[in-house]
Amino acid sequence: MQDNLSGGNRYMTQLFAHNKKNGLTQELIEALIPMFEEASAGAIAVDRDSRITWINASYSELLGFDSPSSMIGRFVRDVIPHTRMPEVVETGKPLLLDIMEHQSQQFVVTRLPFFDEDGGIVGAVAFVLYDDLQPLTPLVSKFRRLHQDLVAARKALAKKTRGTRYSLGDFVGASPASLEVKRRARLAAGRDMPVLLLGETGTGKEVLAQAIHTVSGRAEKPFVGVNVAAIPDNLLEAEFFGVAPGAYTGADRRTRDGKFQLANGGTLFLDEVGDMPLPLQAKLLRALQEGEIEPLGSNKVVSVDVRVIAATSRNLETMMAEGSFRSDLYYRLNVLEIPIPPLRERLADLGVLCEALLEDICDGLEIRGEITDAAVSALGGYDWPGNIRELRNVLERALTMGEDNGLLDADAIFKVLPRNGSRPQSSLSPRPVRPLAQVMAEAEAQAIESALVACRGNRTRAAKLLGISRSVLYEKLARMS
Ligand SMILES: Nc1ncnc2c1ncn2[C@@H]1O[C@H](COP(=O)(O)OP(=O)(O)O)[C@@H](O)[C@H]1O
Ligand SMILES: [Mg+2]
Repeated sequence: MQDNLSGGNRYMTQLFAHNKKNGLTQELIEALIPMFEEASAGAIAVDRDSRITWINASYSELLGFDSPSSMIGRFVRDVIPHTRMPEVVETGKPLLLDIMEHQSQQFVVTRLPFFDEDGGIVGAVAFVLYDDLQPLTPLVSKFRRLHQDLVAARKALAKKTRGTRYSLGDFVGASPASLEVKRRARLAAGRDMPVLLLGETGTGKEVLAQAIHTVSGRAEKPFVGVNVAAIPDNLLEAEFFGVAPGAYTGADRRTRDGKFQLANGGTLFLDEVGDMPLPLQAKLLRALQEGEIEPLGSNKVVSVDVRVIAATSRNLETMMAEGSFRSDLYYRLNVLEIPIPPLRERLADLGVLCEALLEDICDGLEIRGEITDAAVSALGGYDWPGNIRELRNVLERALTMGEDNGLLDADAIFKVLPRNGSRPQSSLSPRPVRPLAQVMAEAEAQAIESALVACRGNRTRAAKLLGISRSVLYEKLARMS
């Protein structure tokens, strides 16, 4: 080391020979450079043509050379392919901190140019601060985490400025029922008419409403959602139509835009529209018919252009019969109706739904969620009153309670599945006694169908799940068809 140090000093002395005027600075630098050299894992200097003029033993060793002398005079890139020394010599700008790859290693390096007294480039010197990133691990992982956060925040912001989070691909499902839902949604997206989404809670009404907006010609305009059930009746009117200045005697004298104004040009999603009180139903109807609204406390009308997508889990026809929902509003909203069947009626979607939900749940986590076919089959025995929202919760809980590897088997599912909601087995309901062979054939056919559903149609895996060989399964399938 001592040899190289003095070598380094010799180089530096030469380098600064023409710079004597600036004695103090030079002395300082000359004092600092050996310190840097000693603390670093390697040091190198090049001339203005990027040819190596000096390299210390530790660096030449790090690079896999026997001795420093064999490297003197060579173009630096011939020896260190990824070095940016030529750039420093070229531009005269230091690269204070950089990570350089060298034969599958990573070096943290700093590179400084040197000038003569006329400001011309003489060469450059570089130090390898770390020859492995280990000491920097906390810093690097912090950087990586911040970077991930940034990416996520940018994504969220992009979605937020569009006002939506979902597109049609996010409505997962391959069952005939789901495909019909998606067909109608595409139809709805292509036209500017009101849409009514009907379905139990958690069936994906909001997903679909956002998806329709995203695919529609209004995609660049706002998507504004309002959940009627979540807002007290006495505030609904202001929420919908806004407030004119001075409408209330009191502190708030400013104009406040309602959801209609906010959604202008875009889509207004009226969630739980069945929960709307009758007086507001009349006002909503007028707004939809006229394309005009009247903010609270104002005597002027404002014209608005919104496409309305309404949704409800209530039975509006029953409500109309009872007089709690206006039929004229119903017909106004229900130009295109999209019924979304409950999960229990499209169990064939369970497999793909689980895969999509697990991927989403585990996004950004260390684990990769996976589910066995038997576990999917176990999920099929439950009634799913909360539909896909509940399925998501069950999977989340199973992951939290289960093994660290993220693999969900049937046991993990049984542990977290509510007990009281399993579907009544058809065999338990009272039925006329029939020939045993017939009952057994039906049970067999049902088991095979369930297994195929759980395995997304994969026959090899279905046979395994049923505990029979593939050829036996094929035989049975042939007999069934
Ligand atoms: N077809 C689907 N594919 C994927 N995720 C879905 C689907 N339907 C619903 N979800 C998920 O289930 C949850 C509830 O959906 P949401 O649209 O809020 O239901 P609803 O408005 O009908 O109560 C959300 O987390 C959503 O992402
Ligand atoms: Mg909802």
